[in-house]
Amino acid sequence: MKKLNTLSLLGAVLLLTVVTGQARLNAQESSVLKRLAAAGDLLIAREVDTEIPVDGSSRVWNKAKAYKIPIISQFSVAPRVKTLDRSELTVRVLYNDKEIGLRLSWKDRTVDENVAATERFGDAVAVCFPMTYGNGERLPYVGMGDGEQPVNIWHWKAAWQADIDRGFQGVAETYVNRMPLTTPVLYASGPEAGAPISQQKRATPAENLMAAGFGTLTSTASAGLRAQGVWQKGFLKKGAWRVVLKRPLSPRGHGVDIDVAKGLLPITFATWDGGGSQRNGTKSITRWRFIQFAGKEIPAVSLRTISTGFSQADVERGKRLVDTLECIKCHNLPGAAAAKDVGTDLRFTGAIFRVDYLIDSLKHPNQVVVPAPRYFTPATGLSTMPQYAPEDVNEQDFQDMATYLRTLQ
Ligand code: HEC
Repeated sequence: MKKLNTLSLLGAVLLLTVVTGQARLNAQESSVLKRLAAAGDLLIAREVDTEIPVDGSSRVWNKAKAYKIPIISQFSVAPRVKTLDRSELTVRVLYNDKEIGLRLSWKDRTVDENVAATERFGDAVAVCFPMTYGNGERLPYVGMGDGEQPVNIWHWKAAWQADIDRGFQGVAETYVNRMPLTTPVLYASGPEAGAPISQQKRATPAENLMAAGFGTLTSTASAGLRAQGVWQKGFLKKGAWRVVLKRPLSPRGHGVDIDVAKGLLPITFATWDGGGSQRNGTKSITRWRFIQFAGKEIPAVSLRTISTGFSQADVERGKRLVDTLECIKCHNLPGAAAAKDVGTDLRFTGAIFRVDYLIDSLKHPNQVVVPAPRYFTPATGLSTMPQYAPEDVNEQDFQDMATYLRTLQ
């Protein structure tokens, strides 16, 4: 009888391990996970035994929990939008043994899908993943990664979707009454060169991109990426886009190799409102978040470098330090503009940067240097941000300042 009890106890522990999937996490690691969930930074992917539908209206999508992610205009570096926009992106994630899929929805009053004129821009959405993750690596810089931490971006474009759904909308199709071109060959250089944006026949409305910092964005073959986007007219003319992006876990070609056994998969999002002339760096962005694969164990190592904040940090003290160290000389801060426009805008840092990045930026300004004019000295490539000496600014000071900056959103 006793033996049976021990056995059933063992069975119960095993069952619990399988169900919760967190056998190897100690109390501290489990609390990191809890704090990530509490901060809205954890997106749980639901496992399905069917194929992931590329059709966003499929009921299979209702199985996944919907997460609402605040998304805010990129404001730290030029070019920026004139007025700051805050909105929300609703995200659902599904996976099976072969694929991962995301369904993204966001409000957009107008459909901007014709980009035939130079002053017209299309609506778009993108997700971004680090190429290497899960072994305690630092997260890539939120804007297109960096030299040490390259990223893979899946970019759905309304204009490409329209090309597929309604046929190619080029200059000739848009301006039907235009003067005929006498030398059409001159205008065919894009398609002839195989430029991805000039293609008239598309297999997919999403582009698979690789990047390792600003100005390094490279289009590659689709790697099996599939997508479908639909604009739905809502009540009172308030419409919304609903876009599905899905890809095999292992890419067929360039792209992140997603291994569900690695635990948390870092992800970040961006949207572009074509009607608001948004393109390239003028877009809305979010800070890094993490996909957790429901039912799969999370190895402790994947949580190692994720910081959710510092328990001993003092926000008020952090604000006072930011004042005394005169960060305002270079950075915009709430209520005051920078003396000289030589640093990034810090007024909304908490919405787009994690506390890990903020503390790294303060301690090691040269780890990721935002490569905009005046942000670095061209001769050395070094950041103009001062490197504070340990005798002037200690660990506690850095933690307090980073925690204060984290509250700015
Ligand atoms: C002499 C000008 C200067 C001063 C003073 C300065 N910074 Fe910076 N800082 C910069 C520049 C330029 C960058 C962007 C280049 C880079 O990535 O290092 C930057 C980057 C940053 C970043 C990263 C933000 C991003 O968009 O990537 C943070 C956070 C930051 N500074 C905080 C501070 C704080 C807090 C202080 C005061 C303790 C301060 N800075 C003082 C010039 C300055």
